[in-house]
Amino acid sequence: MTTQRNRAAPPRRCLAIVLAAGEGKRMRSSLPKVLHKVAGRTMLAHVLDAVARAGADSVAVVVGPGRDDVAAEARACAPSAKVFVQAERLGTAHAVLEAREALAEGFDDILVLFADTPLALPDTFIHLREKLGEGAGVVALGFTPADPSGYGRLLTDDSGALLAIREHKDASPAERAVKLCNAGLMALDGARALDWLGRIGNANAQKEYYLPDAVAVARGEGAICAFVMAPAEEVLGVNDRVQLAAAEEEIQNRLRRAAMLNGATLIAPETVFFSFDTVLGADVVVEPHVVFGPGVSVGEGCVIHAFSHLEGATLAENVSIGPYARLRPGARLATKARVGNFVEIKQAEIGEGAKVNHLTYVGDASIGARANIGAGVITCNYDGFLKYRTKVGADAFIGSNSALVAPVEVGDGAFVGSGSVVTDNVEADALAVARGRQAVIPGWATAFRKKMAALKAAK
Ligand code: UD1
Ligand code: CA
Repeated sequence: MTTQRNRAAPPRRCLAIVLAAGEGKRMRSSLPKVLHKVAGRTMLAHVLDAVARAGADSVAVVVGPGRDDVAAEARACAPSAKVFVQAERLGTAHAVLEAREALAEGFDDILVLFADTPLALPDTFIHLREKLGEGAGVVALGFTPADPSGYGRLLTDDSGALLAIREHKDASPAERAVKLCNAGLMALDGARALDWLGRIGNANAQKEYYLPDAVAVARGEGAICAFVMAPAEEVLGVNDRVQLAAAEEEIQNRLRRAAMLNGATLIAPETVFFSFDTVLGADVVVEPHVVFGPGVSVGEGCVIHAFSHLEGATLAENVSIGPYARLRPGARLATKARVGNFVEIKQAEIGEGAKVNHLTYVGDASIGARANIGAGVITCNYDGFLKYRTKVGADAFIGSNSALVAPVEVGDGAFVGSGSVVTDNVEADALAVARGRQAVIPGWATAFRKKMAALKAAK
């Protein structure tokens, strides 16, 4: 359900440099900022995915010192990415230059992206590159936020040509009145980028080497600089957890829209939460308040009733789950399976047309086609040390409130009497009853009441 790539990547060779060396202090977290997640995956992974979809030929990721966790995530998402360490955090231009070795390989287009700007779309990267193809030396990305304070400003002439970018802290009052802001991401002509970046100084309010200064440097060398625009919500930068939530909201809105346009009905879309990789088939109905964790695929015609939670689950066609169902990783539901309220399924296959309708835990199990699992049935899959499997055959019937103590098998067509604790295998078409026999004593209650009433009266 990820947003489709519409534009074709230019036939020029492109190096994407992803800056991920920031400290992220405002997150107030022991986890590096770029490893915080939106829609179920890290911000860094979102950016690397967009880079891949924009058709970059090579990827460099710049990480902070000692950030093996960030480097590992980069390699997991983009195995061929080259990771560079920025030992000292001296500014965005300095960070880009840490990837000098990659820059020196000779690319047509250089794209610089920020790992804390996770919502930028491949089309926007391609749009930036197209301007390079038209002859620009540096292409900035502009946007007009509701509140421009804090952002760099794009300074343009009357013809709209980009003259320079001024950081907020260095801007004059007149420059601060400019509403057109710098989103941060940038494209540079690969033949000249190293030279320009090397000429950027740090004589500014923050004593930092600013990447946006590439514009003034390039113009000084006679290059044309340009900018393209992006919607503010696409270039939202995440510096704190309030902005992290804003990024989540934006990406959820994209995923909801994509799901509906792909043919799923969301009755109350604003209450449904997707992961980046959720797959919904046509004519799926999702009732209010449903959460999809990563790795969920839902086949055509399924109904996800309200308040269900799914993660790592695969549903074939016309499956019905919930309300209040919980599908955990490894849940695989065959066509027309039904999983009802307060049922938890983990690492288990539920066969075609099988029913697990009420208050049940099915873990490490396989349930045959058309089997009926009664209310309150539990697979006892764990002895405190190891996990064991339960197998229930096709057309079997497990009576309510039974415990299936794994490892155990119930054969095809077998019945298990309700309230049984099944510890031994049950052969096909047999009946297993494993509970105390019922005793009935006629008149006992009447005699008991009489005796107790007499005792009470004597007190
Ligand atoms: C930057 C831009 C500003 C723009 C804003 C948009 C600069 C100097 N300014 O400001 O014009 O309006 O983004 O959000 O580029 N980073 C490193 N190493 C460093 C410094 C930064 O890797 O030494 C990385 C950060 O992890 C982050 C990105 O570069 O991903 C941007 O850095 P940040 O300090 O957040 O820049 P802003 O002040 O937001
Ligand atoms: Ca920032």
